[in-house]
Amino acid sequence: MSLGVSNGDVVGEQKRSRLHKLMPWKKHKLSFASPVAFEPYDTKTQELLKKNFGVLHNLQTVWPGGICLPTSYKDIANKVYNLPLRATDVWVMSFPKTGSTWTQEMVWCIGNDCDLTRARSLHMDVKFPLLEHWINSKGMMSKVIRQKGLKTTKMFAMLNKNPEIMTIAKDDTTAILNRTPRNQRRFAKTHIFFSLLPPRILDVCKIVYVARNPKDTVVSYYHHNLLFKGLYEFRGDFKTFVDLFMANILPWCPYWENLRQAWSRRHHPNMCFIMYEDMKEDLLAVVRKVSAFLEKDLTEQQVTDLCEHLSFSSMSKNDKVNREVYRDVIMDENKKENKFIRKGQIGDWKNYFDEDLNRRFDAWIQANSHGIDIEFKYE
Ligand code: A3P
Repeated sequence: MSLGVSNGDVVGEQKRSRLHKLMPWKKHKLSFASPVAFEPYDTKTQELLKKNFGVLHNLQTVWPGGICLPTSYKDIANKVYNLPLRATDVWVMSFPKTGSTWTQEMVWCIGNDCDLTRARSLHMDVKFPLLEHWINSKGMMSKVIRQKGLKTTKMFAMLNKNPEIMTIAKDDTTAILNRTPRNQRRFAKTHIFFSLLPPRILDVCKIVYVARNPKDTVVSYYHHNLLFKGLYEFRGDFKTFVDLFMANILPWCPYWENLRQAWSRRHHPNMCFIMYEDMKEDLLAVVRKVSAFLEKDLTEQQVTDLCEHLSFSSMSKNDKVNREVYRDVIMDENKKENKFIRKGQIGDWKNYFDEDLNRRFDAWIQANSHGIDIEFKYE
């Protein structure tokens, strides 16, 4: 692994070892082009992962921030950290399953003067790509195909039917963003922490961060893992999943660090912090807040039409956002009733948590939420 210094650079080497003493995780660092470093899990954790997932993606802890990601993130870590930014960029940031897609559709529509016809004609993954999509498309998919002999013909059939998806399937998102014409506003989503993103991102770009209470988030994430069967093949039960979530050994965990890094930046003028539960309770108010943030003056009619377009029933039928396009490729074909836009409720966790789990989860919230004074709505 290149550490970016020549053999004769003794001073550099001394500096580096001093640095490693202060920040031990830096010894796994990719290069001096970014501070990103990978740390493999200990044997016990690796065994735990092996036991619970049919498809392993060599998950590791990625620093700074300590996020759990497949090692395929190495291919793009420096490109992400050094991504050239544009003042017109709009980002949606979140922990998975907190209403990211809902927020993306809202933000894209507002940013595009409520052109709902165009919104309905463009696939979400194309108009608002996931920054770290590479770890799904290249890293995971290639492994899935190799390990499980997944019907690649089905994938090609899907790509033939949806040629626009081909553009994101064969490239990493940083390349797509870099080649976007300058006169076109770029939209991107990420579940990666601020600490892995270009340091000036918030000074240059606008960011909408969406958060959701952790109990409904973990239930939604559990269903996500069952639905996208081809990605990880989670084999455990719900309680095991929650234990992995609390131990931060699921992709994009820890939930709290993601939230903390955003919460600490919530007063920045380029940051708009919203809650899933507020969207549920008063979508119109959130639409107005985000419109003001994006400096878009919407008419009453535009707001009404947008709220209808963003309703659960409309979104769940919208093939450009509901991920049904991937049904034959990576979703569990035996569970057609399980959907990406699934229930969309506050309080579904009550159908999954028993008393003991709820007590343990509450203790975990108590121990981890210091400094984040959000009054979560759980019902
Ligand atoms: P549930 O699994 O609880 O139903 P993400 O986009 O971050 O993966 O989040 C997915 C969650 O947002 C799912 O939660 C999904 O149903 C919910 N969601 C998506 N669109 C929604 C809408 N229009 N109204 C309410 N919830 C929505």
